[in-house]
Amino acid sequence: MDTTATGPDLVRQLPPPLPAERIVALNQPRQDLHTTRAYEWNGWTFDVPPGVFLPGWTSRMVHERILDGRIETRGRRYGAMGAGLGVEAVAAGVRGAREIYAMDVHATSVATAARHYARLVGPRDGTAFLPAAGDLFDGVPPGTRLDVVTFNPPAVSQAVSDDPDVVRNTCVGASLLARFFAQLAERELLAPDGEVYVIASNTADLRTIVQDAQDRGFTPRVDHVRDWRDGVLTFLFAFTHGSRA
Ligand SMILES: C[S@@+](CC[C@H](N)C(=O)[O-])C[C@H]1O[C@@H](n2cnc3c(N)ncnc32)[C@H](O)[C@@H]1O
Repeated sequence: MDTTATGPDLVRQLPPPLPAERIVALNQPRQDLHTTRAYEWNGWTFDVPPGVFLPGWTSRMVHERILDGRIETRGRRYGAMGAGLGVEAVAAGVRGAREIYAMDVHATSVATAARHYARLVGPRDGTAFLPAAGDLFDGVPPGTRLDVVTFNPPAVSQAVSDDPDVVRNTCVGASLLARFFAQLAERELLAPDGEVYVIASNTADLRTIVQDAQDRGFTPRVDHVRDWRDGVLTFLFAFTHGSRA
């Protein structure tokens, strides 16, 4: 595909979702979600309480970009949507973000992110850590402006489990992204030069996700594509709002 395409040309080129049975097979939930697990990355150790998402390869595509600045948070107001364990927040703290909103609908995840931030980053001049539990941006005060937002959403398009924690972490689907872009636009949460990074694969309905964002005035581009050589293609999209693309 032409990764420089944008707008309707980009939507047309995006792959449709993989067959349903393949998506379900690829996303079989691990049996240990309701246990306490451990995670290590970049020399840091994180404990993972029951119900909190254990980061995977897709998570790390975002984490490494925040840490090295390919997704730049230094000096910027950063929103980590679906903060989970808090790895994005920690990476942005080390990078020197100005404000870090750790947003998650799962209160235990926000508390876990806050704990990891306190232990691995701690107080820093010029950096504020702001926990924001709630649905999408509900925990963020009115008037908030963000320069950069990231979201590794539970975008898988097939129900892979009846367990509400698995669904919350994995397979809410494209409707969550439609609400995410609607809130960003309606509340004018994105600063004029702001960027929104969303990562999703063809286990999700990519065309609907990107079309819904466009319908809210966002301009998409493909920042990166990873081909896992098993039929799965993961897209890191960057969106700007209005005519500033
Ligand atoms: C795939 S996990 C990503 C976690 C972490 N950012 C990472 O990449 O490792 C998705 C996260 O989105 C959160 N989430 C699901 N629905 C949400 C909502 N309506 N509002 C905010 N966060 C939500 C989940 O609780 C979960 O922590």
